[in-house]
Formats: sequence, C-alpha cells, structure tokens
Amino acid sequence: MFNHHLFNQAILSPKFTDEAIYWTNKLFNELEVYWKDLFLKEEIIKENKNKLDFAAWFHHYTNDMTIKLLTGERSYSMAAYFDTLLEKKSDHPPAIVEDSVKFVQAIHKHLMGYYIFFIISPFLRRYVPFFKNKADGILQNLKFINQKLDSIIKRRRQEIKDVPLNKPLPHDMLTSMIIKNTLRDGNYFETGEANRSMTDTEIRVNLLDGILNGTYKSANLLSLIVYYVAHNPDVKKKMLEEIDSIFQGDKTRPITKDDFYSLSYCEAIVKEVSRIFPIMHSFTRSFDEPCEIAGYQWPANTLFIFNIKALHNDSDYWEEPEKFNPDRWLVEGFEPNKNSFMMFGGGLRSCPGRKLAMIELICLMALLFRKYEINLVDMNSPIKTTSDGILVSCDELLVEVKPRN
Ligand code: HEM
Repeated sequence: MFNHHLFNQAILSPKFTDEAIYWTNKLFNELEVYWKDLFLKEEIIKENKNKLDFAAWFHHYTNDMTIKLLTGERSYSMAAYFDTLLEKKSDHPPAIVEDSVKFVQAIHKHLMGYYIFFIISPFLRRYVPFFKNKADGILQNLKFINQKLDSIIKRRRQEIKDVPLNKPLPHDMLTSMIIKNTLRDGNYFETGEANRSMTDTEIRVNLLDGILNGTYKSANLLSLIVYYVAHNPDVKKKMLEEIDSIFQGDKTRPITKDDFYSLSYCEAIVKEVSRIFPIMHSFTRSFDEPCEIAGYQWPANTLFIFNIKALHNDSDYWEEPEKFNPDRWLVEGFEPNKNSFMMFGGGLRSCPGRKLAMIELICLMALLFRKYEINLVDMNSPIKTTSDGILVSCDELLVEVKPRN
C-alpha cells in the first residue's frame, strides 16, 4: 500500500497535471509533423492516399507519452513508426530511436507474455521445454526492462544531487518518487516508517506498473471513441460545437488546463464509450479472511472477478443501457448508482492513472477534431478488437484524415 500511495501522490499532483497537458500538446505537434509528410499534402489527399491506422499511431503516441511522463526520458516510438512508413527519416538520431524501440518492444513482449505465469502451472513452466522456453524468454526480457529502469533511476538520482536545493526539478513521476520524503520534498516532515523515502526497487516496481498499465489503454479507448463518434453524427455535431465554442476557430494554440475542464461534452463521450464498451472488461479482488457475500460463505483467498461490461450494461442500473447516449452524463444531478460505473475500478486499488488518462483522451479529442476531419475508411466494418478476457485491444482502425474546412 506504501508504493500505491506514493504512486497516487506523484501522479495526481497538480504539477503532474500541468506536465501531462504540456506533453499532450508537444507530442501532438510531433505527430502532426509526421502526418503532414505522410497524409496531409495536397497531392496525397487528391490521390485519396490520406488513410492511416489510427490505432497504431496512438499506440505509439501513448508509448511516448507514458514513458516521458513517468520516467522523464524521451521515447521515440512515433518517430520509429514514421521511419517504417517513409524513406525520409525523422529528425531524431537513429541510435536513440533504435534504443527506445528496443525498450518499447520489450514492454510489448512482456504485456503479451506475462499471463503464462498465471495460467500455466509451475511444473509445466519448469519441465516442459515448450513452456519453459516461453517462461525463460519472458523472464529474460523482464531482466532487460529492469536493468533499463535501474539505469534511468540511478542517472536521475545523480542529476538531482547535482541540482542545488533551491532550484526547481522536473515534475515527472520518477523525480517525484525519488524526492518524496526527502529534504527536496516541499511537504517533508520526519515522522517514521510511513514517511520514509522510497528504495530503488520500490521506485522501479511503480515505474514498471505505471508503464505496463498506462501504455495502451488510452490509445485503445481513443480508437473506440473515434469509431463511436463516426457512427453517431448527432454526437459528432454536438462535440464539434463544444470544441469550436472553446477554440473559436484557433486551430493551433496549445490546449490549456482550463480548456480541459471546460470540455464537458467530450468528457461525457469518454464516459459513455467506456460504459457501453469498457476496454477493461474485468478486475479482481480477494479477501485474506473468510467472508460472506450475497448470502454465501466464501473461504479466505477466494478470487472474485468483477464483470465490468455486464455491470455497465445492466438495466437495473442504467436506463436504456444499449443506447449510446453521452447526454445521460450531463443531466443535472446525474450520478451513476454506487459501484455501477467501474471504468477505473473502485476503492483503494482504483486506477491511479485515471486523471492522466482523462487528460490524454479529452485533450486529444479536442486537438484532433478542432483541426482535422476524421472519417472511417469503412463505415460498415465492425471495430477490430481482440480481448484476453481482461483488456480489450483495438488492433486496427483505418481512418481518412484531412484538414477541416
Ligand atoms: C483509459 C485508460 C485507462 C483505463 C480505462 C484504466 C482502467 C484501470 C482499471 C479498471 C484498473 C483496475 C482497478 C481496480 O482493480 O480497481 C486499473 C489499474 C491500474 N491502472 Fe489504469 N486505466 C487507464 C489508464 C491508466 C494510465 C494512463 C496509467 C498510468 C500511467 C494507469 C495505471 C494503472 C495502474 C498502475 C493500475 C494498477 C493499480 C493497482 O493494482 O493497485 N492506468 N486501470
């Protein structure tokens, strides 16, 4: 709980919010540079070649965003993707791009493979060559990720030491965790174990937890949002009205914290898409003591699985649950029934990245739609998603993009 608590403190601080908005703008500008070369030139639009895989671009975008905000280090996942699509290369030095691709690929490999430690028995993993090779590969890969994170932590500790006490430090999560409960911490007071500073291992565990949990979810949800908006013209019209009323035709100024808090219809769309199609289908809880639930006695350590999708589409809690209706969130005084909306889980272990996710999603909706017209290439195609039973991944979303008139 100590780690979780400090994770929350670092990622939910107002300074982190500012940093998240700053990097949303900055990485969006970088994305536009790539899109201009690849899809937005007049001749490309004329030839109908302005089509792109939205899901892939935003998987790369959120890789770069999460790694930057959590570790303070730049990652070049978008640049690497651009380099695969065009002969002309991005401006970043190839060795740095390559290095960051290795790290992102290792994260992806871990996410795709770690589940075997939950579903394959230790016996098979140790003694049956097929499973043993898989398990060894995942452990080897994890070792590489840990070494990389350890070297980042070590380097940052040194950088912090070199900055005089009265000079400001960056607001990424790593820096906040290193200085927490030290003389650098504005709220420092020494009162014992709960207020001790974090060890490198604790910091590494939090960084990895954040990177693994934070990387693809916002991108998958953003793809679903684009899909639902495209299929609901009335919603799209209202969303554009809201965005235009805030930006008043300015298509280039950076988005601000005030804009973020004003985009309430965009927020309602995010929540409604998450209600009707939660990208995290389920999460688990267990009690370390026997308990009674729903009139039944359960032994200690029983694993309970919350079915978020069923809950979000249950007519006991939601009026016309099958209807995609963002307006339901804007009815005055509306609050979902207690525990009937679990987009970010619930209770003490609820998602610590919830604020960051909302910033990314709402700001990106505004940045994208104020300037570009985004249409699905195939309106008849169902959305291409796969699920491992817990997480939904959007595997591809082909869209056509052009400047908005
Ligand atoms: C749309 C985006 C996201 C959704 C829908 C989402 C949803 C969730 C849900 C449902 C849980 C389980 C909570 C529970 O058990 O009660 C969770 C856990 C978690 N999320 Fe998120 N999340 C998102 C983005 C992020 C981001 C951007 C980060 C961090 C950078 C993040 C970090 C975490 C972590 C570290 C946990 C594990 C917490 C723990 O086990 O104590 N998430 N998320």
